[in-house]
Amino acid sequence: MSEPLSWEPQHSVNIAEIDSQHQKLIRIIQNLHRAVTAGRGREVIESAMDQVVNYTIHHFATEEELMQQHGFPGIAAHRIEHNDLTLKIVGFQEEHAVGKPDAAEKLLTFLQRWLEEHTLKRDKEYALFLNAKGLA
Ligand SMILES: [Fe+2]
Ligand SMILES: [Fe+2]
Repeated sequence: MSEPLSWEPQHSVNIAEIDSQHQKLIRIIQNLHRAVTAGRGREVIESAMDQVVNYTIHHFATEEELMQQHGFPGIAAHRIEHNDLTLKIVGFQEEHAVGKPDAAEKLLTFLQRWLEEHTLKRDKEYALFLNAKGLA
């Protein structure tokens, strides 16, 4: 399994609320990573996966609300990326629920890679736009 993602200064988008949500999301992902690595039971893994999925959805809603409020022109494309990711991770959650092996590992590998990419590229696009409007 991939190394756990950690928050790096380069992930900062210069918006305090979003940086702190990204940090919290990474902490929740690290919890899941620890639970999987330690070989914890199904229910522990399930609740750690639920936390990851629920917080991801909450985070996406926050971003979309900000983009909407400030009229970010790239909102539609950004929302599509969020929706695709959400479908994918809910799929892993369902795989776990029906007892398929490795669903949590697959979620971690997929989400960590996605998050790194998305935060560094896509999130920085709307953040720059909001920074230019004085939001920090
Ligand atoms: Fe984000
Ligand atoms: Fe985003």
